Amino acid sequence: MAEVTRKSLEELTALLGAEHVSIDAERRSDFSHDETEDLRVLPDVVLRPGTPEEVAAVLRWANEHEVPVTPAAARTGLSGGAIPVHGGISLSMERFNRILEIDSANFQAVVEPGVVNQVFHEACREKGLFYPPDPSSWGSSTMGGNVAYNAGGPKAVKYGVTSAYILNLEVVLPTGEVIWTGANTLKNSTGYNLTQLMVGSEGTLGVITKIVVRLIPYPRHHFTMLAPFASAEVACAAVARIFQAGITPSGLEFMERDAIDWTLRYVDGVSIPTGPGIEAHLLMEVDGTDEEAVLREAEQLAAVAEEAGALEVLFAQTQAERDALWKLRRRVGEAVKKHSIYKEEDTVVPRAKLPDLLRAVKRIGGEYGFESVCYGHAGDGNLHVNIVKGGMSDADWHGDRLQQGIRQLFTEVRAMGGTISGEHGIGLVQKGFMDLAFAPAALDLQRGIKSLLDPKNILNPGKIFA
Ligand code: LAC
Ligand code: ZN
Repeated sequence: MAEVTRKSLEELTALLGAEHVSIDAERRSDFSHDETEDLRVLPDVVLRPGTPEEVAAVLRWANEHEVPVTPAAARTGLSGGAIPVHGGISLSMERFNRILEIDSANFQAVVEPGVVNQVFHEACREKGLFYPPDPSSWGSSTMGGNVAYNAGGPKAVKYGVTSAYILNLEVVLPTGEVIWTGANTLKNSTGYNLTQLMVGSEGTLGVITKIVVRLIPYPRHHFTMLAPFASAEVACAAVARIFQAGITPSGLEFMERDAIDWTLRYVDGVSIPTGPGIEAHLLMEVDGTDEEAVLREAEQLAAVAEEAGALEVLFAQTQAERDALWKLRRRVGEAVKKHSIYKEEDTVVPRAKLPDLLRAVKRIGGEYGFESVCYGHAGDGNLHVNIVKGGMSDADWHGDRLQQGIRQLFTEVRAMGGTISGEHGIGLVQKGFMDLAFAPAALDLQRGIKSLLDPKNILNPGKIFA
């Protein structure tokens, strides 16, 4: 692929204006990584287009000169998708930061991709409207990044992941055409579903410039509970029993003991039981519009959790207590990262297989010599397996044996009916395992779609496919 030369910079400056073309070392360094491990590759230049037409002009230019373009938003990703592995252009979408419309009559909104998830969530909430997808990074991750990775988060267990809310997208194709993928309607049976093709495509098929979402009424009442367990496996087994009792929690999160211990060091104002007999916690929440009905459901949930082995069930008594519990949960990833370099595996299995998955993680860790701390969206069967470097030598950390251990884990996950990423995507770090998730014909089909849309492979090259 071609490099960015002095002449290229002049041409790009002519397209965007000098203030939106940066080769500053610090800025390039900012765009050399996301939150994935300790991986870094510098782009040659960071561009900040401000309109779909400017994005189109950049992509046409890049296509003509065969220069790689890596779209980037808040760079909170965990599979290396925003790392410009072939250098070239980092395409920052930060200027696309406006909420264009919140339509209360139709429960829809139009938002630009650079808007921070939580900012959008709060703006909808002020109008009594609810945009449920809330990845742990919601305070910094953006709507465009969320769509590109089909972000999940704790609310997905009741309300579904990002894809369930996306009605229509304005997308700039790698060859520079600007298209809309669908319609601003709640139903759409018109043609192929280009909207859902773009959702989760990790910035490899197009650059999203507008997002039309559907919204739902904001649930007025919540009860949040914390249940300690003496055994992590028993906590995982309780999860399926909760659903079997007819309850659909609006949050059902699992945290292994180390995850909590490490996170408590970074979060003030949370006190939770962490005695020697406690190996894991479930964080549980129910919500709805009728306060009494929600309370009854919370009590039923607490009773089922206790029958399933919870040592006790603690109710958050105030909004502040509730916020503190969620803050603790949202900070786990950051805390593990502060504790040690780690590899994040985003395994997902059918919900009732969760105890088998946890047992497999620990057994495989023993066989291949790695330690792990697990947490995640238990209600979705989605376990974040964080393999911590800890005392492991650099040679072992970068060596084949660890990769073989991860392959073994993913192989067993597939045998359980699961897959290799629930919400973090494939990006750079999981692409070597795609052969476990798809047969050759299904992989070829995906490669064919990529080359149809991006014949010169300029858009986020080096991702998803080995
Ligand atoms: C979480 C992120 C890591 O669940 O997905 O906290
Ligand atoms: Zn998660």
